[in-house]
Amino acid sequence: MNLNLPEKYVIAVDGYSSCGKSTLAKDLAEKLNLIYIDTGAMYRAVTLFAIENDVFSDENQINEQLLSEKMKDLRIIFRKNGDFIETYLNDRNVSEQIRGPKVSGKVSLISKIKFVRDKMVSLQREMGKIGKVILDGRDIGTVVFPDAEIKIFMTASIQVRTQRRFAEMQEKYPQLSLDEVKGNLEERDTIDTTRKESPLKKAEDAIILDNSELSREEQLNLVMEVINKNLLEPKN
Ligand code: DC
Repeated sequence: MNLNLPEKYVIAVDGYSSCGKSTLAKDLAEKLNLIYIDTGAMYRAVTLFAIENDVFSDENQINEQLLSEKMKDLRIIFRKNGDFIETYLNDRNVSEQIRGPKVSGKVSLISKIKFVRDKMVSLQREMGKIGKVILDGRDIGTVVFPDAEIKIFMTASIQVRTQRRFAEMQEKYPQLSLDEVKGNLEERDTIDTTRKESPLKKAEDAIILDNSELSREEQLNLVMEVINKNLLEPKN
């Protein structure tokens, strides 16, 4: 397909944990030659940084002042390495570590904090200036790029999401049970949707994509139709 798309546009993909946002975003990035920004990886990198800097005074208590001071030295960048986009935290490749259960267990607590969000949002807007970009996260269509040309809100049943995440984690973390994976997804959904600062919610003008019963290819085709319609046909 040879599309005559605008030179600059933003695609915002938001939705619940593990419903395939990054798979869709990567597929679209490849098809349309877009820069992909995985904003979840950024919150995960801050969380790893917080754990390593001992800002958790107990299991769920965060010393916010300490975190805020330490964050002055925080640098997050993405680097493309073949087909992979790697996440660097202060020049260290942390792509693997940020996907582990330790970070997954704390990331929603860190991403509730206003100064953390402010810093990430400003970084994301800066990165998004480049041109044609796709970002996935929780607040892209509502807060980071409320004027994004295309907004997709993704969802899938908890059973399907648990199975997908469980399968993903099996190789590296075989000790994790299905119930633990499900528990983590539910806990993150609850914190992400109920937090005070930019909670996860559907932007009014977002298109809902429930991919519980869609294959990767089917979902890509569906979204390509939406993009075709919205970016090529003049809006009334
Ligand atoms: O997309 P993910 O599952 O890797 O995201 C990890 C966590 O980061 C998620 O539970 C909530 C937080 N997050 C956020 O608050 N805002 C975003 N734009 C992206 C992620």
